Amino acid sequence: MLEAINLKKTYGDHNALKGLNLSINAGDIYCLLGANGAGKTTTINLFLNFIDPSGGSAKVNGIDVTEDPLETKRFLAYIPEQVMLYPNLSGLENIEYFARLGGHNEYSDDDLRGFLVRCGLQAEAADRRISTYSKGMRQKVGVAIALAKQAKALLLDEPTSGLDPKASNEFSELLKHLQSEGAAILMATHDLFRAKETGTRIGIMREGNLMQELNTGAVSHADIERIYLEHMH
Ligand SMILES: Nc1ncnc2c1ncn2[C@@H]1O[C@H](COP(=O)(O)OP(=O)(O)O)[C@@H](O)[C@H]1O
Ligand SMILES: [Mg+2]
Repeated sequence: MLEAINLKKTYGDHNALKGLNLSINAGDIYCLLGANGAGKTTTINLFLNFIDPSGGSAKVNGIDVTEDPLETKRFLAYIPEQVMLYPNLSGLENIEYFARLGGHNEYSDDDLRGFLVRCGLQAEAADRRISTYSKGMRQKVGVAIALAKQAKALLLDEPTSGLDPKASNEFSELLKHLQSEGAAILMATHDLFRAKETGTRIGIMREGNLMQELNTGAVSHADIERIYLEHMH
């Protein structure tokens, strides 16, 4: 569903991404680990077509994102550290707006409230302005929007940084729910523990290179930490 083929990005003479090859299927939760500056956000931004590649290609559902960005965006949902929502609109108004933007006009208010509640938002919160929401609540709205858009692929850039452990745990459970509905998930994170608990695969990046891939089922928490640290030296 998400595929990078020799994907490159240079800024001036700096190689931020040096020929990435990556393939993420439906049902995968692929966690990208790596120090700041490793190229995680660059990778995600290339899939979103926020930036143009310097070489290679990023494909969503087999379509090159530079060739048909509107079509590929219909399949995608994006959850950064701060989900972009309209603070003066309610949770319900936000999900209605973004679902429509994604071409989904078919939902009643009750349908939209249902998405929010399924993502763990209290029913009465749906009518409150986003500006009154906690960070964890805003991330839940982000996932609810992904559900309403029927996104086939999710791109998450440090979505749980700054969340308390309970909110982070709830967020991880939501990702597993999306995974069970057949989404392909790519998540940049610094949380080795959650990567092991939630992820199916892990990719360790350093200085624009994908150094190693792991199947989370085949390694312990301690293994992941050890292997990660080995690559950082
Ligand atoms: N707009 C930009 N202009 C110049 N350099 C950039 C730009 N965006 C990112 N970089 C550089 O690209 C590299 C990778 O950055 P990034 O993908 O944000 O890393 P990560 O998300 O893993 O922390 C870094 O060295 C960063 O400084
Ligand atoms: Mg980043």
